[in-house]
This record gives sequence, structure tokens and C-alpha cells, in this order.
Amino acid sequence: MSTDPRKLKKGWKVAMSKMAESTFNPIRSIVDGMTLIPHPDKAMIALSIGDPTVFGNLPLPVTCEEAVQESITKRSYNGYCPSVGYTESRQAVADYVSTPTSQVDASDVVLTSGCSGALEMVIACLADPGQNILIPRPGFSLYKTVAVSLGIRVKHYDLLPERSWEIDLQQMENLIDDDTAAIVVCNPSNPCGSVFSEEHIRDILSTVARHRLPLIADEIYEHFVFNDYKYHSFASLSEDVPILACGGLTKRYLVPGWRMGWIVINDRHDALSEVRIGLQKLSTRILGPNTLIQAALPRILRDTPESFYTETLDYIQENARVFYSTLRETPGLQPVMPQGAMYMMVGIDMESYPEFKSDVDFTQRLVTEESVFCLPATCFEYPNFFRVVLTVPKDKVVEACQRIRQFCEIHFQPTLHINRNGCPVTDGNHHNGYHTGEELAAEAGK
Ligand SMILES: Cc1ncc(COP(=O)(O)O)c(C=O)c1O
Repeated sequence: MSTDPRKLKKGWKVAMSKMAESTFNPIRSIVDGMTLIPHPDKAMIALSIGDPTVFGNLPLPVTCEEAVQESITKRSYNGYCPSVGYTESRQAVADYVSTPTSQVDASDVVLTSGCSGALEMVIACLADPGQNILIPRPGFSLYKTVAVSLGIRVKHYDLLPERSWEIDLQQMENLIDDDTAAIVVCNPSNPCGSVFSEEHIRDILSTVARHRLPLIADEIYEHFVFNDYKYHSFASLSEDVPILACGGLTKRYLVPGWRMGWIVINDRHDALSEVRIGLQKLSTRILGPNTLIQAALPRILRDTPESFYTETLDYIQENARVFYSTLRETPGLQPVMPQGAMYMMVGIDMESYPEFKSDVDFTQRLVTEESVFCLPATCFEYPNFFRVVLTVPKDKVVEACQRIRQFCEIHFQPTLHINRNGCPVTDGNHHNGYHTGEELAAEAGK
């Protein structure tokens, strides 16, 4: 380093790293760019935040609270833990996720800071800069945020609203190239609220198996499915495809702030022996998630009463029904009935709203005029839709539905056209929803 005064830096400007510079969260940047001024006479109803705790209407299971209190009073969990997590906590996760066809044990589990930590670690472990991963569209934005900041490219495969958001497998397969390192799937889905059938999961697995690729299964909404549907983990149906499943307490247990996540290594054909070492290495960068929550894990996963899960799901499912039945009768909207998770996607027939340039514009005006904030699906790389969150208190759901409907009735300009279901939509035809699973089954049986 030169000490020549002419070569010394003059100012105090410190540059950020390339990695920081390339870190981009589309939700933040789109929402921060919106002018969100609610109507002065109407209380704001935020249907945008995927945090089930914000309204205080969904109580935590007492077991969870007691388990964490016990961690504190025991005074044994204040020190560093092994970087992949305590063995008993990892075993608890292994017991929780194991099925008769996919048995794992503590050595297959890495505990992480939230499911986000799990996703970041598996993406970093599987792909090098310049390689690519396949991710869903519409999809949770973190996959791209993490990948791009690591110099990994993303390619989007399409989910099909008219098929309850199943993957367009042909299009997905066409995207695979020599640089593809992994495929990310999300089931149940944020933002779609879809739950893949066993048959569809098997089809996805055989497509992926042909290319000998590993799957990153984002299963943060595991078991979070409505009455008529059944949850299958990808690992439980995989004979050949190695799967890194990412999960956590966040959604099912309604504790996003606890930041408790995990990776479950579901190896097949010993394909992941190197990756296993890679994950172990990466875990030494942070040294595991919060020890108090880790220590509470066995009790939380084992002792939470079944009634907690069913009550939470019933509440959310009922909200989904209210949203769907109102919005499908609303001119120019095309809701897709969810099957699980906490969200519903609603299509906007933009031709019928010529005064709005985009879903961002539409949702912004909905705030200005009705104080209802829905997330524009441009945030999920899927324009002309918006997403509503289903964990909102019931009275707010009813009120929000009325306000959305009023807004649409004011701005709707009737047009004659074919909607996404292939049906002609004429003036006054307000039954625009994508078919529910039951309706499709009934159609098929005709
Ligand atoms: C699909 C999906 N994956 C992962 C996450 C991140 O979960 P966590 O808060 O545990 O990091 C979320 C959170 O909203 C999500 O919706």
C-alpha cells in the first residue's frame, strides 16, 4: 500500500460489495415504490402481509410457549451448539418428517435460521456462479434474491392457474440445460395456495429424474392443507430423485419471528454424499439457529395438540371460501380457489379496467379509494394478479370483500371476450373464478 500522499484516498466513501449490490428483494422495492395513502375515512385493511401474527387473532399453542419457557428455565441452552444443531432437536425434526417411505434420522437434518436460512444454504451448496436453478412463476421471491446475489442465474417455469397451479412440465423440462444445478419446487405454494396431488408430484419427480437433477423442495407449508386435500412430501414419493427439503416452524406453528428452520437431506442412490459435507461446511459460518428454540423443538413437534392444527386450518379455509365466493361474483376478477397455505391469487381482467396500467396501479388505487392493500403479483413475477392473505380476522375479510367489490363495480368497463378458462365473458357475467378442484372433478365426471 502506497503512503505517497498524492495516492491516498481523499474522501471517506466506503463502497458496498458486489454481493450486497446485487441483492434485490422485489417485494420491498415494488411496495416501497407504491404511493400507499389510505382513504382518510376508512381504516386500512392490509391483506398483504404473510405474517400470521400481525392481527393477533390466531393464538399460539400453549405447548409452544411452555416449551420455550422450559428452555430458558433449564439454563442449559445458553451456549454454542453444534453448527448443524443439537442432536436431539435434529432427531425431533427427523421423527416429525419421516414417513413409511422416507425415513431419515438426526444425521440427515441441519437446523437453520428460518426456512430462508435453509433455502440460502441449499442454493449456495448446490450451484456455482454462472450455473442456473429453475424456480416457479408465480413464486416466492427469495429464491431469486438469494440466487442472484450469489451469481447464480434463475430460469422460471410456469404454474398454470387453470390447472390449480400445477407445473407446466413440458415448459419446465425445456428450460433444463447443462448448467442447471437444481430445481426448486414449493408445495403447498406461496403465493398460489395450491397443493399438488400425488399424481402431479410423481409426474414432477419422473421429469426431474430423467435429468438426474436434485430437487429443492420448499415445504414450509407442509401439512397446511384444507379438508378435501391431502399433503404428500416430495421425499415420501421419490424413489430416485435426491431431495433437499426445506421447512420450519414458521407457518404451521405461527411463529415466524422464532426463525426456526431446517434442511432435511433425503438422499437416493448416495447422490448427496458430497452435498452433505457441503452443508456441514456451510453451517459453520453461522453456528446454528437460536438454541432456546432448538431446545424447545422436540416438545413443540411432539406435543402440540391436533386441535390446534385443525382449528387454524378451519379458520383459514373459511376465510378462503368467503374471499372466493365474493370475488368470483365481482366483475373483472378471477380468483383461484386455494387448497392450502395462507394465500389466494386473484386474476384481474385488465382489459375491463382500462384506466389502470398494471396490477401495481390497480392495487395502489384500491388503497387510495378503499384502504385495502393486496399485494400486486408483479412481486411474484406474475402481472395481472394480486395476492390476498387468508389469516386476517373474519370481520376484516367481510369488510375487505365488500370494499374490493365496490371498487371493482365503480371501475369495471364491460368488454366481450374469452376469459382464461376459455369461456366467453359477456356484460353482466360475473362468475369469473377459476374452477375449484371439486368443480373440475364434477366436470370430468359429467
Ligand atoms: C414459500 C416460502 N418459503 C420460505 C419462507 C421463509 O420462511 P421463514 O420465515 O421461516 O424464513 C416463506 C415465508 O413467507 C415462504 O412463503
